[in-house]
Amino acid sequence: MLMLYVLSGGIITKKTAGAVCNSNLKVLYKGMMMEVNVMGKNILIITGSPRANGNSNTLAAAFAGGATAAGNTVEVLDACALNMDGCHGDASCHQRGCCGLKDDGVKLHEKMCWADVLVLVTPIYWKSFTSQIKKVVDRLYPFAAPKGRAQCTVKETYLIATANNPDPAVFGPIKEEFDLVNTLLQFECKGQLLCGGLGGPDAIDEHPEYVEAAVRLGVGIGGAKAEASAQQFSKELNYINKLRSRGL
Ligand SMILES: Cc1cc2nc3c(=O)[nH]c(=O)nc-3n(C[C@H](O)[C@H](O)[C@H](O)COP(=O)(O)O)c2cc1C
Repeated sequence: MLMLYVLSGGIITKKTAGAVCNSNLKVLYKGMMMEVNVMGKNILIITGSPRANGNSNTLAAAFAGGATAAGNTVEVLDACALNMDGCHGDASCHQRGCCGLKDDGVKLHEKMCWADVLVLVTPIYWKSFTSQIKKVVDRLYPFAAPKGRAQCTVKETYLIATANNPDPAVFGPIKEEFDLVNTLLQFECKGQLLCGGLGGPDAIDEHPEYVEAAVRLGVGIGGAKAEASAQQFSKELNYINKLRSRGL
C-alpha cells in the first residue's frame, strides 16, 4: 500500500493512500507559520508498478506529499490493484456515451470526472508504459469522444517514469506516447520527471535528487506560495526514507 508523507504544521505524518484533504493547511518554515494554497486542486495519481515498494512508488509518494503539503487533495489509484479488463474496442463509448464494461474502469472514470490533474507514474517496461498503465490509457478512450471529453474534469497532466538505463534517450518512446494521450484528450502536460539509472527496487535510495525533484513537482501545483515548503519537506522525506530502508 502506498504511503503518503504529509507535512502539516511542520510535522511529517504518514497516511495511507486515499483522499487527503488539506483546505486549512499550515506549514512551519524557518520559524514562520505560513498558510498554503487553501484552494487546492484535485489530483489523481495512477501508479503502475507491480513492485509496491519500488522506485516509481517512492516517487509517487514524494510527489503526493509535496502536492498535499501545497494544499491540494490527492487520491492514488494503483493500476495493479484494479480489477479491470483491457478495452474491448466495441465502440459503445462512442455510440452510447459511456463504456460498456462494468468493472473497476467505472471507478477510474469516476475519478477522471473528479480530478483537475492526472499524474501517470510508471516504470519503463520495454521502452513503454507497464501493461497496467497501458490498460488505464486504453480505458480513457471514452473521453476522446466529444460528449465524453465534456464529462472529464482533467485539464493538466504529469508523467513520472523510472528506468534501469541511465541514458535519457530511453524515455523517448514514452514521451511520444504521453504526448499523444495529451493531444487526443486535450490535456496540457505540465511536467515530466524521467529518472534513469534505477535498476533494483531500492535504487532510488541512492538518488535523493530524484525524490526532491518529485516533491518539488508536487509542491509546484500549489504555485509559488508553496515553494518554501519544498526544501523542508524533502529534507524530512529523505530522512524518513533512510529509516525505512533500514526497516525502522
Ligand atoms: C518487464 C520489464 C521490462 C523492462 N524494460 C526496461 C527498458 O526497456 N528499459 C530500461 O531502462 N529498463 C527497463 N526495465 C527496468 C525498470 O524500468 C526499472 O527497474 C524501474 O526502475 C522499475 O521501477 P519500479 O521499481 O517502480 O518497479 C524493465 C523491467 C521489467 C521488469
